[in-house]
Amino acid sequence: MADPSPFCWWTPAGIAIGRMDEIEDGTARVYEIELSERRFRGLIARRGERLFGFVDRCPHAAVPLTRSATDDPIDNGLIQCCWHGARFEMESGYCVSGPCQGRSLSPWPIAVKGDRIVTA
Ligand code: FES
Repeated sequence: MADPSPFCWWTPAGIAIGRMDEIEDGTARVYEIELSERRFRGLIARRGERLFGFVDRCPHAAVPLTRSATDDPIDNGLIQCCWHGARFEMESGYCVSGPCQGRSLSPWPIAVKGDRIVTA
């Protein structure tokens, strides 16, 4: 049976996402990528010169972590889901508190080439 969801949960390698300077140190940004008939939504968190990519889907209720793609979900160094307050480590996506404590965000493989961020 075909999956009727308009979303997909992975991206092929080599898609241009954005630039490193679009994400301030200590913040995160949501990116939406159109893939033929489906849409992918990922979150990239930055700490110093390191970036961490995750699928923007909370393991508690399988919804995006933010109400809007322009919201920064970082609070006191942790990624926080806006719906019920689950809090995740920026580096690992591990949930340290909230209704899905002990679970993790799904990693989104990304790479930096020069100042460009691409899917990996
Ligand atoms: S949907 Fe994220 S904490 Fe409930």
